[in-house]
Amino acid sequence: MTNNSNERVVLVRDLSGTPQPDDFRYERCAKPTLAAGQVLVETQWLSLDPYVRALLSGRHFLRQPQPGDVLPAKSVARVVDSRHAVFSTGDHIVLETGLQRFAVSNGDDAWPLHAGHVPASTALGILGMPGMTAYFGMIDVAQLKAGDTVLVSAASGPVGSMVGQIARRKGARAIGIAGGPKKCDWAVRHARFDACIDYKIESVDERLRELAPRGVDIYFDNTGGDILNTVVMGRHLAMHGRVILCGLIAQYNLKDAPRGPNLGPLMACRGKILPMVVYDYEDRREEFLRTAIPWFESGQLAYCEDIVTGLEHAAAQFCKLMRGENFGKTLVRMT
Ligand SMILES: NC(=O)c1ccc[n+]([C@@H]2O[C@H](COP(=O)([O-])OP(=O)(O)OC[C@H]3O[C@@H](n4cnc5c(N)ncnc54)[C@H](OP(=O)(O)O)[C@@H]3O)[C@@H](O)[C@H]2O)c1
Repeated sequence: MTNNSNERVVLVRDLSGTPQPDDFRYERCAKPTLAAGQVLVETQWLSLDPYVRALLSGRHFLRQPQPGDVLPAKSVARVVDSRHAVFSTGDHIVLETGLQRFAVSNGDDAWPLHAGHVPASTALGILGMPGMTAYFGMIDVAQLKAGDTVLVSAASGPVGSMVGQIARRKGARAIGIAGGPKKCDWAVRHARFDACIDYKIESVDERLRELAPRGVDIYFDNTGGDILNTVVMGRHLAMHGRVILCGLIAQYNLKDAPRGPNLGPLMACRGKILPMVVYDYEDRREEFLRTAIPWFESGQLAYCEDIVTGLEHAAAQFCKLMRGENFGKTLVRMT
C-alpha cells in the first residue's frame, strides 16, 4: 500500500440466500480526502454483525447497500487527521466506517473509545452495541427480577452470552441454547450459565420440560424460526412470561419470511412479546458503560471473539458468521 491508497470490501451483487465470498470484492482505491468539519480515521478493529445481512436484503430501516458500495461496519479507529471541533489526531473513537482501512466522517455517529483497562475490541462486542442490546433488553424491556428463569438463544454470541451473565448477576437462572458442544460447554463453564441446550442434537422441547418444568419467565430470542416456535407453541412460557424479540438470524438468509408461531398459547399464560431495538438506547450508553466496565475489570465477564486478521479475509469471515459457524463476537483485526 502507498501513503495515498486505501483498501476496502465492496458488494458485488444483490444477495440471494447464504452469502458467498464472491458476492463481495476486496479492492484497493484512493484514500479519502478530508474536508472541513471531518476526521480521517484509520480502522484497527472492524465489527461483522448479523444485521448487515438484513440490511443487504432491504429488510432493515437503514439504507440498503447497492452493488459497488462499501459493506457497512462499525469500527474502533484512530484519528489520523482532523478538521473536527471535538475529535483530534491520535484520539481513538468508535464509529461507522464500513469495511475499509481509511474513512472520513463528520463524527455525528462517533463516540470516544471507553477508558479503563479493557481491550479495545470489546467496544464492538460485549461493551459495545451487542452488550448494550443485552443490558437494556434485560433490565429495561424484560424487567428482569431475581428468581426469574431466563432462556436465551445464540447463547455463545456477544448478545446471548451477555444476556446469560446479566441474568446470573441479578440472581436469575440462565439457560442457553446454542449450536454444538463447544459453544454449550463454553456457555456453562465460562459464562456460567446454569445449563445450555445443544439444539443441533437435542430436542429443545424435551430439554425445556426437564430444565424449566414451570416455564421460563423471559425468553430472549436472538434467532426467531424453529426455536421461537418451540418456546411459544410448546407452552414453555411461565405465567406472565415475556419474549424479547431481539434478532431473527434464522431468517436473514431466506428469501421469504417463515411462517410465524401460533400465538394462541400466549393467552393461556398472559404472555407478552416485546421488541428490543438497541438504537432506542443510544442516549444511555454511558449508563451501560458505568455498569459493565467495572464488571469486566473485576474479571466477572466472560467473552469470546472469532477474529480474522487482514481486510482481505473479511468477506469470508462475514460468510462464516452468516452460516452460524462463528464462535463469539466476529471481528476483523487490521494489520
Ligand atoms: N434488536 C437489536 O437491537 C439487536 C442488536 C444486536 C444484535 N441483534 C440480533 O441479535 C442476534 C445475536 O447477535 P450477535 O451479534 O450476538 O451475533 P451472534 O450470536 O454471533 O450470531 C451468530 C449466531 O447465531 C446463530 N445462528 C446463525 N444462524 C442461525 C440459524 N439459522 N438458526 C438459529 N441460530 C442461528 C449461531 O449460533 P448457534 O450455533 O448457537 O445457533 C451463530 O453463531 C442476531 O439475530 C442479531 O441480529 C439485535
